[in-house]
Amino acid sequence: MWNFFLCTWKMLTVTGDTLCFFINGKKVTENHADPETMLLSFLRERLRLTGTKYGCGGGGCGACTVMVSRYQPATKAIIHYSANACLLPICQLHGAAITTVEGIGSTKTRIHPVQERIAKAHGSQCGFCTPGMVMSMYTLLRNKPQPTMEDITQALAGNLCRCTGYRPIVDGCRTFCQETNCCQANGVGNCCLNGEENTEKPQLFDKEELQPLDPTQDLIFPPELILMAETANPQTLTFHGERMTWVSPTSLEELVQLKTSNPTAPLVMGNTNIGPDIKFKGVLHPLIISPTRVKELFEVTHTPQGVWLGAGCSLSEVRTLLEKLVPQFPEEKTELFKALIQQLGNLGSQQIRNVASLGGNIVSVYPNSDLNPVLAAGNSKVSVISSGGRREVPLNQDFFVSFGKNILKQEEIVVSVFIPFSRKGEFVRAFRQAARKESSFPTVTTGMRVFFSEGSRVVQDVSIYYGGMGPTTVSAARTCAAFIARPWDDETLSQAYDILLDELALPPSAPGGKVDFRRSLTLSFLFRFNLDVLHKLREMDVVTDEPPERIQPLPREIQPSLQEFQHVPKGQSDQDPVGRPIMHRSAMSQATGEAVYCDDMPATDGELFLALVTSSRAHAKIIGLDASEALQLPGVIDVITARDIPGKKVRTMFGYDEELLAETEVSCIGQMICAVVADTRAHARRGAAAVKISYEDLPQPVFTIEEAVEKSSFFKPLRWIEMGDVAEAFKSVDQVYEGEVRLGGQEHFYMETQSMLVVPVGEETEFNVYVSTQWPTSTQDVIAETLGIPSNRVTCHVKRMGGAFGGKVTKTAILASITSVAAWKTSRAVRCVLERGEDMLITGARHPVLGKYKVGFMNDGRIVAADIQYYTNAGNTVDESVLVVEKILLHMDNAYNIPNLRGRAAACRTNLPSNTAFRGFGVPQSIMVVENMVNDVATVLGRPADQIREINMYKGSSVTHYKFEFSPENMLRCWEECKAKSDYSARRRAIDQFNQQSRWKKRGMSIIPIKYGIAFAESFLNQAAALVHIYKDGSVLVTHGGTEMGQGIHTKMQQVASRELHIPASKIYISETSTNTVPNTCPSAASFGTDANGMAVKNACQTLYQRLEPIRQKDPKGSWESWIVAAFFEKISLSATGFHRGPDLYMDWDKMEGQPYAYFTFGACCCEVELDCLSGDYRTVRTDIVMDIGRSVNPSVDIGQIEGAFMQGLGLYTLEELKFSPSGLLYTRGPSQYKIPAVCDMPLQFNVYLLSDSHNPHAIYSSKGIGEPVVFLGSSVFFAIKDAVAAARSESGLVGPFSLDSPATPDRACLACASLFTQKIPANKPGSFKPWALNI
Ligand SMILES: Cc1cc2nc3c(=O)[nH]c(=O)nc-3n(C[C@H](O)[C@H](O)[C@H](O)COP(=O)(O)OP(=O)(O)OC[C@H]3O[C@@H](n4cnc5c(N)ncnc54)[C@H](O)[C@@H]3O)c2cc1C
Ligand code: FES
Ligand code: FES
Repeated sequence: MWNFFLCTWKMLTVTGDTLCFFINGKKVTENHADPETMLLSFLRERLRLTGTKYGCGGGGCGACTVMVSRYQPATKAIIHYSANACLLPICQLHGAAITTVEGIGSTKTRIHPVQERIAKAHGSQCGFCTPGMVMSMYTLLRNKPQPTMEDITQALAGNLCRCTGYRPIVDGCRTFCQETNCCQANGVGNCCLNGEENTEKPQLFDKEELQPLDPTQDLIFPPELILMAETANPQTLTFHGERMTWVSPTSLEELVQLKTSNPTAPLVMGNTNIGPDIKFKGVLHPLIISPTRVKELFEVTHTPQGVWLGAGCSLSEVRTLLEKLVPQFPEEKTELFKALIQQLGNLGSQQIRNVASLGGNIVSVYPNSDLNPVLAAGNSKVSVISSGGRREVPLNQDFFVSFGKNILKQEEIVVSVFIPFSRKGEFVRAFRQAARKESSFPTVTTGMRVFFSEGSRVVQDVSIYYGGMGPTTVSAARTCAAFIARPWDDETLSQAYDILLDELALPPSAPGGKVDFRRSLTLSFLFRFNLDVLHKLREMDVVTDEPPERIQPLPREIQPSLQEFQHVPKGQSDQDPVGRPIMHRSAMSQATGEAVYCDDMPATDGELFLALVTSSRAHAKIIGLDASEALQLPGVIDVITARDIPGKKVRTMFGYDEELLAETEVSCIGQMICAVVADTRAHARRGAAAVKISYEDLPQPVFTIEEAVEKSSFFKPLRWIEMGDVAEAFKSVDQVYEGEVRLGGQEHFYMETQSMLVVPVGEETEFNVYVSTQWPTSTQDVIAETLGIPSNRVTCHVKRMGGAFGGKVTKTAILASITSVAAWKTSRAVRCVLERGEDMLITGARHPVLGKYKVGFMNDGRIVAADIQYYTNAGNTVDESVLVVEKILLHMDNAYNIPNLRGRAAACRTNLPSNTAFRGFGVPQSIMVVENMVNDVATVLGRPADQIREINMYKGSSVTHYKFEFSPENMLRCWEECKAKSDYSARRRAIDQFNQQSRWKKRGMSIIPIKYGIAFAESFLNQAAALVHIYKDGSVLVTHGGTEMGQGIHTKMQQVASRELHIPASKIYISETSTNTVPNTCPSAASFGTDANGMAVKNACQTLYQRLEPIRQKDPKGSWESWIVAAFFEKISLSATGFHRGPDLYMDWDKMEGQPYAYFTFGACCCEVELDCLSGDYRTVRTDIVMDIGRSVNPSVDIGQIEGAFMQGLGLYTLEELKFSPSGLLYTRGPSQYKIPAVCDMPLQFNVYLLSDSHNPHAIYSSKGIGEPVVFLGSSVFFAIKDAVAAARSESGLVGPFSLDSPATPDRACLACASLFTQKIPANKPGSFKPWALNI
């Protein structure tokens, strides 16, 4: 029999089979399916279905979400589930129907209600995440047309969005719920629709005009696939690729035979472990065995002792199965089932759980597997098969051998997993703590089981396993032994904690870091288990004392939110869109996947792909570059080095040269050295991996701020500013306090990585460059310099960016110039799209900052003097660091009038990747230090922080420390309104009460003001131009210098043009930003895009409107179209440029005075959090933001900016951590390691109010810039956490200021609480060990 299989397989290995599946109702047959091809690249590159996006390639961002549908012959049911196309090998799809965003609706035919609602609710800004969001939600609706909010948040948990802050996406999806959609604006339980006042409030979108869900719009499952599944005699399938072969057997026998003959070949089920290994670690498997068609792996068998689950079942299926079983059995029997259900609810995302298999999770023995500790504690076992027969293997400590290794023999296959019933008197629990609450591998996780003799508290049996405490799942066997035959009481527990601490002692430099936190979690999990056990024993009348209260989970129900803004003025024409919440002009195209991003552009003939080779040393001489092997590889065309650059090889900024490609020396890991161009991206990447660089290390690289300070390694100039006489003032104050705070950097994590396509025109060294950049002109200039050609030969086109946040201002130009060298050298179009990991490694981040302060204050709370020193970690090149440092100093007063104020700031030069602009440009770091200082003053004085803030705020006619006069009136209005809207005083009292009653969970609240300067201090950047054409049919094409990155600038420009030309916005189109239409543009940055470009567009439109005046006068009753035709025949030019010469701002650093800003945007934010002091997990319960943005041009776009920036700030201050190895390598190179806020991080109630009746004479239509300011207000969550931590500390008798660095991640918050358990952890002497990660 087996010989027969072998023969068949051998035969097939020669020919290969035909793969058959459906995409959006169309049949796909592939005769040469390559096992290395994932569905994502197949969709994008082969089928040109570019709606599905690449965001990370590793299952961590959800941008590539599609719906998979399969027919199950056994049940005759069609199942639908969401999955990440980036991890789905096409070979796995035989017989499946795939639906992509293009398959559910289109602007050409009919848009789907999910697409419509996300778009209309303003849930699409840059739009790069939108197709993934749409598909997650669509799949949910296919399975449950009336979902609950919990269903929605679960469905979206694995979809990251960097722009919106999730609130509008959730609100769009909420419209499908049956639950009330009331905003409760009139107080709890009071509907906003009751009462006249509220019915008049303008709404962001009109729910009445939404289309209903219509199932007839859904594609039907292809009958051919049903027929195929019902009738086909399943055959082994074999597919051959360039380097891999894929075999999919149909019987267990055949599977065993294949595995016996090929013991090292992996079994690919969900591909969520093997896929990332292949992609990110370069692992090559010549043969892959896919057992997804072997039915024994999916069987479920019941026995009196428990249930056998097929190892092939997906984690979602396992969860559903267990959930169905629980109610069928007495409660006591399903303890393990329930513990597993709980873990499965938190493991990965829905997309991952839908494909990842139970067997795959167990066999992969991740150090922090969520399931293995629970299964092991619960006495589970696996049934395995091999050519030697079947055996059962217990999942105990012997199973988990070491990192990635289990006890099974290579040829053994797990067929099923046994989940035993629990017994009376047996309790099983699971706990986990992760860097982010959802969609994140746990930091530490545990499974715990105890068994008592009937009616007794004496322990008969106990089993405790941990994940995250070693290279694999570990058993706390010694601790367990200490329980046996002893009563479950305080004394036994107390001894158990000591033994556990000793037994699971991690070395201080253990991989993963956070050692003290991890150790404290092992104890606090046991404590939680104890609470649960005591309650159970009490319920069973085994103990009579009332046990301490159990720790309840943090709240998670998302409430309706309020977004308040003013109506347009009475009398404004209905046609005039200015001031109205107009949807982002591309939202529909983005929601349907039709919007074109750089990498969505079709390949041009002969196009090549470029992959970069980067340094693996932090500071070294390059002594050799060997590209010979790379050049031999299939598809590789050329290797580009610095020697190939025909023009300028460096970019000069602030007098410092930065090499485009390193030639002789490297100064950070990730520095670009050369690039490989090949016919496909896979070939280019393989080529890049094959280039060999040899180095000679140079001594003593500098990584940290402290090291740089010690060596005076700075980028000049250092900046200094002083107002008053600080030294003298310190002599007269009541108290002086010194403190410091450290802020980590922040990765931009724009969803679309750096992307560009350089196309040589073919004559006179002319190039068309399609690029995702905030500054097309700079990209044009750098390319021209690099190629040694005039700028008039380079045209940069920017259609849109999938997010940018400052990361696409300067860095893109270097990448584009390297790509243009390749295009110039090969005379072919060259595309470069960075992988997520490359992008994170190469392009730098927000500057980490160390702030040290000395503050002098009076006992009544007045701050009289402050001396603040800022150090930023700039990395290896200067980039914009000098400007960042300047902006830090200019904002160091924030809202406070400190009469004697001194600030010094330095950009430290280190051997880390060069940092760059990031939304807020140093301000979020600057003010954080100041607010921390103010907080400390309040703590020293024992007074509420908001009082100290109020006492010191600017009042009346004011002057900043750089002698800039302004009125803080609107800042104070925001502050007062924020306090009123958030019901600050009453909630403060409620929080104090909560904290008195709650031992392990504390609430905290904080209110924070902001004063943010708008426009560029570098005066020349305050200018903009526009070009407006009117065509003979009356349609208008607007071009301006701003670039669209999701912030809605094109939408606002369309509104401006509509008002000025007096025509509906629908007649106006904006195609792209390009250097051949509007030259010499300034970057879209500094929250100044609308101010500058709006005025330029206005100017051009007014010119045109005036030109039409005689025509209108001749024919006042004519239509727009008739006037345009008439104007054409009258030979009136229908094209005009517009220009805006912005304010002449300056800053004189010698005199320490200037007018660096046009005006200030003000705001205030109040946040409340609930903190679990034992795990450091927190939830933002409520956020109220009041912003003064003048008269908003578009309230929905501006509220979107506010919410998105707030969430980015929340990430910066509480979540996002860049980690570098001791040798300077960035560890955090993807969403698995670097956590940006997900939907679970959104405040449960998220209210935004735009200050009414505010006017601003300095910007278009009295509006104000808003892109950046609110990032800082995310710190309100940080200070609320700090407030909660202070409440926890006071329980341990700790009062006074304490240090909490940013981000206030769970580990920091937990350790700062100084609980019973954290205090047990013996401190490691600093300097006595090498930490796993640097504190840069
Ligand atoms: C983004 C992301 C987030 C994640 N988050 C979490 C998390 O929070 N917690 C957590 O615990 N895990 C998490 N995981 C891990 C995930 O659960 C596992 O990767 C998954 O369960 C592995 O199953 P698979 O079917 O995809 O394995 P595959 O990748 O298909 O295979 C993995 C390995 O298992 C072997 N194997 C598979 N099935 C069998 C079998 N029946 N018999 C013998 N060997 C077999 C294969 O040979 C291979 O070596 C995450 C993964 C990703 C990508
Ligand atoms: S691209 Fe697939 S999950 Fe990120
Ligand atoms: S709109 Fe979600 S990432 Fe930009």
